[in-house]
Amino acid sequence: MSDKLTATNTLRATRIKSVKTENPTTKTFTVKDTQCAKAKPGQFLMLWIPRVDEIPLSIMGTEGNRVSVTVKNVGEATQTLHRMAQGDTVGVRGPFGNTFTPSSGKVLLVAGGTGTAPLLFLAKKLAVKAKRLAFIVGAKTRNELIFLNQLEPLCTEQPTATTEDGTYGLKCLTTHPLEQLIAKEKFDMVYACGPERMTRQVFNLTEKHHVPMQASLERLMRCGIGICGSCMIGKYRVCKDGPVFTSQQLREVKDELGISKLGFDGNRIPV
Ligand SMILES: Cc1cc2nc3c(=O)[nH]c(=O)nc-3n(C[C@H](O)[C@H](O)[C@H](O)COP(=O)(O)OP(=O)(O)OC[C@H]3O[C@@H](n4cnc5c(N)ncnc54)[C@H](O)[C@@H]3O)c2cc1C
Ligand code: FES
Repeated sequence: MSDKLTATNTLRATRIKSVKTENPTTKTFTVKDTQCAKAKPGQFLMLWIPRVDEIPLSIMGTEGNRVSVTVKNVGEATQTLHRMAQGDTVGVRGPFGNTFTPSSGKVLLVAGGTGTAPLLFLAKKLAVKAKRLAFIVGAKTRNELIFLNQLEPLCTEQPTATTEDGTYGLKCLTTHPLEQLIAKEKFDMVYACGPERMTRQVFNLTEKHHVPMQASLERLMRCGIGICGSCMIGKYRVCKDGPVFTSQQLREVKDELGISKLGFDGNRIPV
């Protein structure tokens, strides 16, 4: 193991600097960590929640020596984290994984749920050089939409919001406005992060309209550094070869993308 990886992979205890409630199920946690504060959009960290578990989380942003993650309360570890407050101790490893490759020209970002967090981080970088920056953000219902206010000033046009129940924005899935946009105009790159079934549909549409894409994928993760094999998709380890994959790589794993993944017992389970 190289010295650099050893340092990145060392668990560092730190304190929560702030907690912000984004919606009833989602909070943003900011901690001090000089290494993760150097992360680029697309990378993730492993957050250790004392006495419970260690979980992978996408980096939502960095500022000075601080790093933020936006976390949905879905199970034991995230529920315990949601009960924690400023000053509480957590552990951090990372940053891990590859990054989105920023594209200039016309770019379109498609986010679902907490997948909006890493794409907000990316949008901040893209905003400097993109000729057109369009954003489609979707959720099941109005109060699950996140970061709309922060996205607005970064985009060259009003972000398109979709909800499945029609309580805000368009009543549809994110893929509906996506198809309308990419059928009408040639984008240089589509970026996606969200539920994998959404990513699969984004992949199908970008293939149909011959637009390159980059998607951040999730798999069950244990080590985060390419050793345990729990995060495999096709021949790739999502933690090390990803989590960001290009159209070319997504084509290679299309038998699994949005269909199945390995469970913690090594058996294949539906996505
Ligand atoms: C690269 C990556 C980035 C992620 N970024 C975010 C993020 O920014 N915000 C966010 O809210 N969530 C993110 N997740 C998902 C997050 O890791 C899980 O929601 C969390 O681990 C659930 O833990 P739990 O104990 O609360 O829930 P559990 O009850 O243990 O599990 C609930 C569900 O979460 C998933 N999960 C559980 N453990 C893991 C694990 N070790 N690795 C991956 N998935 C797991 C499984 O699908 C499981 O069915 C990311 C996952 C990956 C792989
Ligand atoms: S999480 Fe262990 S190889 Fe990816």
